Amino acid sequence: MSAIKTIGLEYSYADGTNALSGINFEANEGEKVAVLGPNGSGKTTLFYHFNGLIKPTCGEVQVFGESLSKYNIDNIRKRVGLVFQESDNQLFAPTVFEDIAFGPKNLGLDSNEIKSKVSEVLCRFDIEALARKNPANLSGGQKKRVAIAGVVAMEPDVLVLDEPTSGMDAAGITDTIGILDELNNEGKTIIISTHDSDLAASWADRVYILNKGKVFKSGAPRHIFADEKLIAEAGLRQPVIVQTYREFRARGISKGEVPLSVLDFMESVDVKVMNIRCAIAGCDISAGDEVCLEIKNGMLVAGKGSNGVTGRAVFDGKKGEDIAVRDVAGDILQHAGNITVIRVPGIIEGGSRAADLDRVRDILSKNKHQKTGAMGTSAKVLMNRLGLVCDFEFDVIQSGMLAAFRGFDVTILASGGMADRVIEKVKEKKLNYECFVL
Ligand SMILES: Nc1ncnc2c1ncn2[C@@H]1O[C@H](COP(=O)(O)OP(=O)(O)OP(=O)(O)O)[C@@H](O)[C@H]1O
Ligand SMILES: [Mg+2]
Repeated sequence: MSAIKTIGLEYSYADGTNALSGINFEANEGEKVAVLGPNGSGKTTLFYHFNGLIKPTCGEVQVFGESLSKYNIDNIRKRVGLVFQESDNQLFAPTVFEDIAFGPKNLGLDSNEIKSKVSEVLCRFDIEALARKNPANLSGGQKKRVAIAGVVAMEPDVLVLDEPTSGMDAAGITDTIGILDELNNEGKTIIISTHDSDLAASWADRVYILNKGKVFKSGAPRHIFADEKLIAEAGLRQPVIVQTYREFRARGISKGEVPLSVLDFMESVDVKVMNIRCAIAGCDISAGDEVCLEIKNGMLVAGKGSNGVTGRAVFDGKKGEDIAVRDVAGDILQHAGNITVIRVPGIIEGGSRAADLDRVRDILSKNKHQKTGAMGTSAKVLMNRLGLVCDFEFDVIQSGMLAAFRGFDVTILASGGMADRVIEKVKEKKLNYECFVL
């Protein structure tokens, strides 16, 4: 079912600016949609229509199949939460706490329910320390977090976020995208606008490119970013991973579909045609020596011998130096590490408090784990409670699998239903895994 749909949407501002002309847009329930487009292309104007902030000059907006009108606008505003591009347009209460409490209060919750809802959201966004501050005195990135938190507190079915990560530092972007993924996993539809092609490529299920008030192109990211000419014509930048792939492909090293992630890219590299590998000499090696290759501490190391994956050194190399090995025989991927998935109860299942910490300690002590990742709020909170440090918090599934392919044993703590997503991906790539449910 479509969560948001527009049909032939047109909008002209009072000064005559024709901001949207004939936009057909659709976001299905549970989908993650990214809208890209140069400055002034109409992203913000389009988003204002999704919860009826402005009325189309012509055309129609449908929310969960219902045509938006003055009769259902109040109900639709409860279902569609909009986070403004400029946080100052959103924050108005004297404290962060009151600002976030505004939505739940409007929904008619009693004061205890409001308090617990606000506390949950403050924790989810890691902004408890800001609760008593005046939003006007926050930094730009902090304001943005508070603005998003305020909309999340209203528990809308659809979250529409106009450039949610602009002005945020790397940790802020990591957290924000992590929270959006978590909400999406809980069933929410998420629509964002962004100027970040890398983010749109790796995150979205569906991408729209706007240009001069029209939909220039829409579709699955792989389809959109495969078309180099189209991206240039739309005034956008190719994702770095796609640029790299094109250079590799032109040199006969990569093949197949355009990659959208580092993991995809690794798969595009055709190792079969590359009979020569670069490795680190594990001991002094002379040209012509037979060597065996294995992954140690995440790097390919060549030692002397004829076991497992073998090859022949091309030139002399001292221990620790880079060498080249030719005539490689055998599959280096058999050295991939194991993945241990620990499912932590999601926020709606009681969060990390519902987890038995001794059991987690026991699982961690019995399983080798050299790299650790946490996905979702309750998993991150659990890591903090255990005093563990995450090796990866952003793009955890991909980072975990890349580490496993480099030979590391990886543990991923995942909140609620996110654990199923990890297992699905790990199975897809045929990595060894084990799962524990707390
Ligand atoms: N209040 C307004 N009155 C008149 N014209 C406006 C108004 N707001 C926006 N516009 C115009 O409408 C067009 C679309 O603007 P909009 O803000 O939707 O673009 P955008 O894609 O969100 O851009 P950005 O990437 O800079 O946020 C622009 O030409 C802009 O100048
Ligand atoms: Mg805008």
